Amino acid sequence: MEYLGTFPAGFTDLVKRLIVRDAVSPHFLFSDESSIAFRSERVLPKLAYLKNLYPLIAWGKAENLTAAYQLVVEKPLRQKLTPMLGSPLRYNFVIRVFLEGRPGPIIRDLHLRLEQQLAQVLGGRPDSERPDIELQLHLRKNHQCYFILQKTKGLTTELPPGTLPPYLCRLLLELSELQRDDIFLDPFMGSGAIPLERARMGPYHMIFAGDINPEKVERFKAVLKDKPWEKRRKTIFPKVLDATHLEKFEDGFFTRLVSDPPWGLYDALGPEELRALYINFLREASRVLAKTGKMVLLVGADVPLADLCREAKLSLSVADFMPVLVSGQKALVYVIIPE
Ligand SMILES: C[S@@+](CC[C@H](N)C(=O)[O-])C[C@H]1O[C@@H](n2cnc3c(N)ncnc32)[C@H](O)[C@@H]1O
Repeated sequence: MEYLGTFPAGFTDLVKRLIVRDAVSPHFLFSDESSIAFRSERVLPKLAYLKNLYPLIAWGKAENLTAAYQLVVEKPLRQKLTPMLGSPLRYNFVIRVFLEGRPGPIIRDLHLRLEQQLAQVLGGRPDSERPDIELQLHLRKNHQCYFILQKTKGLTTELPPGTLPPYLCRLLLELSELQRDDIFLDPFMGSGAIPLERARMGPYHMIFAGDINPEKVERFKAVLKDKPWEKRRKTIFPKVLDATHLEKFEDGFFTRLVSDPPWGLYDALGPEELRALYINFLREASRVLAKTGKMVLLVGADVPLADLCREAKLSLSVADFMPVLVSGQKALVYVIIPE
């Protein structure tokens, strides 16, 4: 099967490494800063670190939209779609067109021809109001074209502002190279998206989830009362805490620290306050992090974390660093280890 996976811009290398780990002998077809196409010898379930994983029906290079349509209508669509959808088929469908990621115009005669072909293969009819499946024709800036299948509507659950989506939490957590005996801390947990995702990812020793805002901690405690968390509740510790004062914890207590500190967007912190917050937090983090520990931080693009560590003479060094795009905002991911 061929697939197209999407993810926040900037994580291509990490996503490639994870796909090599999770798919059987994957063969990469093409990629850019926020998507990757590959062939896998086995049918893949949803991959939690991808925003979406679509079956890939056709792909190639196209100079313009006409060439993109032509490329698709010439492909053996039945051969591709039957294994994806099973048979006999009876699906009403819609074909949507995207130019450089935005809804684009259709080329009427080629669109009709493609609809006719698909109606034969899918045993249904075009229905833009209530389609059973959606097919998307994309043409990117680099002339890469691809035709993908979206069986159901994507997960569009609205997250409260500032909450990280689960796939982004996964990417950050994967960068921290989890260990089964982890004592884990997110000291700026907000909704608790990162700690909860850490708990979903498999064995750990303890998870501490802290925030200075008591209401957020209460809300997190309420989430832990839900049935799915019944078994793990006793190993997850929500705390009202100030990340710049972690005196309650011994030196070297935590093996992994993954967090998304304030960026100054929703918390009305000025540059100086933000700088002081980061320096004081990093000082505490360098103390509570085990010598073999690892810290992954997602920060706004204008937070010079490496400079702050140097200026504050902290014995922390940047092991990896990547510029990324989070909900259209430029951001930086740092992987930090004790020196
Ligand atoms: C960017 S948000 C974290 C969002 C979180 N990753 C999520 O997905 O919901 C930063 C959080 O840090 C908290 N915070 C701000 N200053 C803090 C401090 N000194 N100590 C601990 N938490 C703090 C804020 O209340 C806010 O919830």
